[in-house]
Amino acid sequence: MKILVINGPNLNLLGTREPDIYGAESLAEIQAYTQNCLGDKAQLEWWQSNSESEIIDKVQSVITSDFDALIINPAAYSHTSIAILDALKNLKIPIVEVHLSNIYNRESFRHSLLTAQASSIIMSGLGKDSYYYAALALLRK
Ligand code: DQA
Repeated sequence: MKILVINGPNLNLLGTREPDIYGAESLAEIQAYTQNCLGDKAQLEWWQSNSESEIIDKVQSVITSDFDALIINPAAYSHTSIAILDALKNLKIPIVEVHLSNIYNRESFRHSLLTAQASSIIMSGLGKDSYYYAALALLRK
């Protein structure tokens, strides 16, 4: 299974960004950890951007790609971006939305997830294991 993993704004700062909430691992470390846990069961391609328009372009590029599934952590755009939601709605492959933290025990402005309307599965609060469990859920599907 070939899975694209899209990460949104500020996730490039993982490891130093609010480690009490997001953990001590960098995005590169989480990437290596996830692929190591999965072995050859799934091949993950990771991509990160701080830009809403770049994320929309990346989601659109999936339409003509050979990815079997998408894992996306739209980060703060999850709570605001109708444009990313609209882009995700064009995809025919399964989508899992991931949040490292449990958004429901945080500020109330994080409780609304616009983009998750396009996902069949949501993972929230599993920390660095979020992407691994998202991939496992896709493999079970
Ligand atoms: C996040 C949660 C969002 O509310 C926040 O804006 C992020 C990260 C998470 O992975 O827990 O940047 O998506």
